[in-house]
Amino acid sequence: MITAFADWLQGSAPILALAPMQDVTDLEFWRLIHRYGGPDVYFTEYFRVHGTSTLESWILESIVENPTGRPVVAQVIGGDLDAMVRSVRQLQEYPVAGIDLNLGCPAPVVCRKSAGGGLLRDPGRIDVLLAALREAVAVPLSVKTRIGYDSAADFDRLLGVLARHRLDCVTVHARTVVERYRSEVRYEFVKRAVGALPCPVLVNGNVFSAARAEAVLEATGARGWMIGRGAIRNPWIFEQIRCRRAGRAVPVPDGRAVLEYVEGLLAATSAPALREASHIQRVKKHMNYIALGVEPTGRFLHAIRRVTTIAEFLRLCREHLDHDRPLLLEPFAVPLGPRDILAGEAGC
Ligand SMILES: Cc1cc2nc3c(=O)[nH]c(=O)nc-3n(C[C@H](O)[C@H](O)[C@H](O)COP(=O)(O)O)c2cc1C
Repeated sequence: MITAFADWLQGSAPILALAPMQDVTDLEFWRLIHRYGGPDVYFTEYFRVHGTSTLESWILESIVENPTGRPVVAQVIGGDLDAMVRSVRQLQEYPVAGIDLNLGCPAPVVCRKSAGGGLLRDPGRIDVLLAALREAVAVPLSVKTRIGYDSAADFDRLLGVLARHRLDCVTVHARTVVERYRSEVRYEFVKRAVGALPCPVLVNGNVFSAARAEAVLEATGARGWMIGRGAIRNPWIFEQIRCRRAGRAVPVPDGRAVLEYVEGLLAATSAPALREASHIQRVKKHMNYIALGVEPTGRFLHAIRRVTTIAEFLRLCREHLDHDRPLLLEPFAVPLGPRDILAGEAGC
């Protein structure tokens, strides 16, 4: 039975959410991650909303075919009031457990149009948008936000705006938009949000292990976690958090279990007419994160980035993962170049 998102929000158990990640968190990825225990709630990649937009068919398909039995929240991004209202109305004709507004995407093309993270430059505009969305949305309405555009100076003002609109949940990715993905996460701002908002707050950013999850929950008082890259690298993370909290032994995969997951990813990123080169490109995106947790020198990461065939990809993965040693899958400080796109910097 699908426990409604609303039930999770009204209960007291900590909530485990899988973060929305464009080009990653699609139907097949959800199917795969669910095999490892999965989160309590799934968020879709964002629906891009503007004057002439229509709802992206492949994201709708993930909502309709949701193979997890768990609630799915549909995320929208945009700044055009009428188009946003039209789109959220249409979305509610599908089995969505909630609607989430993206206030964090740092992609320049999005921010230039005063959408995503760009909206954080104009809290007045957010106020108007949320008033209209609250009116149009009958299911839980949530917001996923960063702590500011180029500084966190206006964060309290933002919280004042968010507090006015009977939101059902707010997720805070505690970085500014210009900080993108690789700076420290400033969890003290999540704590501020917890103190200022009447709704549950989820903490987001750099939750890479059950121990870290526990520590940030304690530090912030959040109602739960939204986890992104940590779940690509380590799909066991949700189950590990549950076990740790229940006082059960935390499962730690060995190399072969990770190899099996990587083979699952290879299958999840394939499609009938997809050329081998494109398939390799797709799976490499996920491997960027996984490789950071496999060995510390960067040798595996850099070798994976150079492969061009599936045979070569599998040979390399077997060379590094066909063993029974436990893998924590937390990111090593692998040497990275300044232009390394390791955290979705090319998109959201
Ligand atoms: C590849 C990628 C795609 C992303 N796409 C989205 C998106 O569509 N919507 C969104 O709100 N955030 C998006 N994000 C941001 C994540 O949801 C999350 O806020 C961020 O990665 C920090 O959490 P983490 O440290 O647990 O990964 C994306 C991040 C990555 C790495």
